[in-house]
Amino acid sequence: TLDNSRPKPKILVTGRIPESGLDILRSVGEVWAWPGDDPIPADVRDEQLAEADAAVTLLTDRVDDGFLDAAPHLKVVANVAVGFNNVDVDACRSRGVEVTNTPGVLTDATADLAMALTLMSTRRLGEAERVIRSRQPWKWGVFMMLGTGLQGRRLGIVGMGAIGVALAERAKAFGMSIVYHNRSAVDGEIEDRLGASLVSLDELLATSDVVSLNCPYSDATHHLIDEAALRSMQSSAFLVNTARGPIVDEAALVEALASGRLAGAGLDVFEHEPEVHPGLLDLENVVLIPHLGSATIETRGAMADLAARNVVEVLADRPPLTPVP
Ligand code: DGY
Repeated sequence: TLDNSRPKPKILVTGRIPESGLDILRSVGEVWAWPGDDPIPADVRDEQLAEADAAVTLLTDRVDDGFLDAAPHLKVVANVAVGFNNVDVDACRSRGVEVTNTPGVLTDATADLAMALTLMSTRRLGEAERVIRSRQPWKWGVFMMLGTGLQGRRLGIVGMGAIGVALAERAKAFGMSIVYHNRSAVDGEIEDRLGASLVSLDELLATSDVVSLNCPYSDATHHLIDEAALRSMQSSAFLVNTARGPIVDEAALVEALASGRLAGAGLDVFEHEPEVHPGLLDLENVVLIPHLGSATIETRGAMADLAARNVVEVLADRPPLTPVP
């Protein structure tokens, strides 16, 4: 509860979020939410930021010095995403602005989508669906659109955080073996349960049948999967990306897929989102999804609620629930 003698804090929400999150925010402040699905225009945003004590942001917002210059009273930026590469965290910290994200609540939804892309790409399901939709006649055949089974295949997970672990659990149920690459080894209990082992990135790329990217995007992971990395993968292998587009050199990926040096890919994210490399659009062996990793009704509600609860904590001068690491 806030001191009634003080004016209500002002909270800017830069885009549409589920109503439950707005209700939480309205319980502690005066909320102004941009009603459009397109990004909020900069002049409208800055006008609101001039008064704002808190900002609830989306991954399509750039929270940089320009944003912060417009927001002299800001105490917290609550990003409605687990990724926070759209936020200049150092710039926020140097001005005493807290930054929070939404870990945990989107783990299952994102791992589900990574598994779905694994199945879609290995079983050629996008291509198969296009056969039906093309309205061409087709008939069942022994050799029609043969894919690759997952049983006994190796999944290499790059980035073994919560989403990586949740994907490994799913993949294990499909009979896959698991290796992972991470800054440090995960808990021994988790490794034992999943039969997963930590390997170098080189070994992971060279030996995995499916490589899934589940690491954060930063300078350190920019183009982690470049031409050389793609060349080191097996020509029968698949790449799945539900993390961030610029982890992959998209032009190099197009080359690898078009030349048959890589069997296929499943992509939920793109290097220059929302643009998609035109070369990808011409290829049959890639599944393209418009950044839907966390896009379930339940998950988006939970993300909005968690972002809102972070705002509540900071406005009450308490530590946020999920500050960015
Ligand atoms: C995230 O949370 O970082 C996803 O990309 C969007 O939900």
